[in-house]
Amino acid sequence: MSRTFYVTTPIYYVNDVPHIGHAYTTLAADVLARYKKMQGYDVFFLTGTDEHGQKVEKAANTAGETPLELADRVVKRFQALWEKLNISYTDFIRTTQERHKKGVAHLFEQVMKKGDIYLGEYEDWYCTPCETFWTETQLIDFKCPDCNRPTEKLKEESYFFRMSKYQQALLAHIEANPDFIQPKSRRNEILAFVKEGLRDLSVSRTTFRWGIPVPGNDDHVVYVWFDALANYITALGYPEQTDKLQDFWPANVHLIGKDILRFHTVYWPTFLLSAGLPLPEKVFAHGWWTVEGQKMSKSLQNVVEPNMLIDRYGVDAIRYFLMREVPFGLDGDFSHSALVHRINSDLANDLGNLLNRSTAMINKYFGGIVQEPAELEDLDKVYRAKTEEMLRQVDGCMDDLAFSKALQAIWEVISAGNKYIDETAPWTLAKDPSRRERLGTVMFCVLESQRVVYTLLSAFMPDTAEKGLKYLGCDRKPTSDQLEWGCLQPGTKVTKAEPLFPRIEEKDDL
Ligand code: MSP
Repeated sequence: MSRTFYVTTPIYYVNDVPHIGHAYTTLAADVLARYKKMQGYDVFFLTGTDEHGQKVEKAANTAGETPLELADRVVKRFQALWEKLNISYTDFIRTTQERHKKGVAHLFEQVMKKGDIYLGEYEDWYCTPCETFWTETQLIDFKCPDCNRPTEKLKEESYFFRMSKYQQALLAHIEANPDFIQPKSRRNEILAFVKEGLRDLSVSRTTFRWGIPVPGNDDHVVYVWFDALANYITALGYPEQTDKLQDFWPANVHLIGKDILRFHTVYWPTFLLSAGLPLPEKVFAHGWWTVEGQKMSKSLQNVVEPNMLIDRYGVDAIRYFLMREVPFGLDGDFSHSALVHRINSDLANDLGNLLNRSTAMINKYFGGIVQEPAELEDLDKVYRAKTEEMLRQVDGCMDDLAFSKALQAIWEVISAGNKYIDETAPWTLAKDPSRRERLGTVMFCVLESQRVVYTLLSAFMPDTAEKGLKYLGCDRKPTSDQLEWGCLQPGTKVTKAEPLFPRIEEKDDL
């Protein structure tokens, strides 16, 4: 039986067009999905769009469209960006799809049948951008404690979910599963929140229409977060007991931004507990990107548009930068100078140069043909051990979602490769015919190490990896059995590489 792996991104609101923050979560999920696929897992990678709720309704009104027209238009922008960013999702769910609406209605009914939903009245402070109610004590100067925008007092008849009933069960689950919420600082934050006690949660609205009707009471629509969170199971066919649902639920990891942690680690698990469904294995919250030191916002006109970046620097440079620059889980800053620096130093210099020099040398010395290696000398053994150690390190990092650290480990081997060439000095060996076998061995080592490097990089930079492997004469789809030393076959024809990443002059980049 094959091992399965289910990774999700948040589903994105369609009242906003995609920016670098959205691209970040989706990219991280893609890197993980590709890595797990390479390891032989049967991977289900889900993304999609969150199309209901007051926010979307308001945006559509402003744009003079129906909410569905707005959604249809914006969803194309998301899908086009994911294609351009080389995102290998398995399924794309839209909350306006029948399959989803059916699943949400069913989940709502299940929770109701359990006696966990009751009709009451709601009076509290509502933040429309966050689609969240707050008590007066939670407000800061009557503004939303999350986004600092004005809130309004709303009173409405509402269905409530008995979230309070699940406080102890949730607490016990978090305590028994130290990896359920990551990173650790986020786990502590949620533990403290849950310990303070959980209020029942309003899970329906009557003040607008754009949502899924509450089963049995059309005056209400289902609260947008109850609707949205259910996407993780409706995409698998819930409530039908499909093979997909059986194979992939519970999810291995929900990747999210830190701003939507509470919804994923308090609301969602308690809905699932009530419905008698297993909880996701892990919820990992990454940090937020600022831009040149400032919060990204429409009003500051500094929203980083990924399409433009990809056109300018290439998709893999952007993929590399986003995964390398900031440890996953921490906040980070996006700046053009940091991006250009990474491209020039890590990609053009370290990675590109190594491939260029080594493929040029084997062509010069052996007509591009990989030689049978002789017995390895100490320098070679150290280099090989370093390459093998990298495989273990990267594996551990990927389990921890430490993408930046994984790339760091890969780059150590790339630097070691450049150093290995300097130390073995193939140009000197080439002058001495009696050292021809040694020269062949040195070439073998430097090419074989890079073959392993590019195989690993296929999760991060799929196009670059494909190109690199092609130059190295390996054009098989990267799989885990190639993640070991010794797969490069003597007799393979290596092609002299063109620069993978041309250097960018800072002054060209204004
Ligand atoms: N629709 C909800 C999610 C429902 S999931 C069941 C939502 N959508 S969103 O479009 O507003 O945001 C989606 C994701 O983008 C969040 O994970 C959020 O953290 C991420 N980001 C938005 N801006 C960001 C940055 N500036 N930096 C990093 N990530 C950011 O919330």
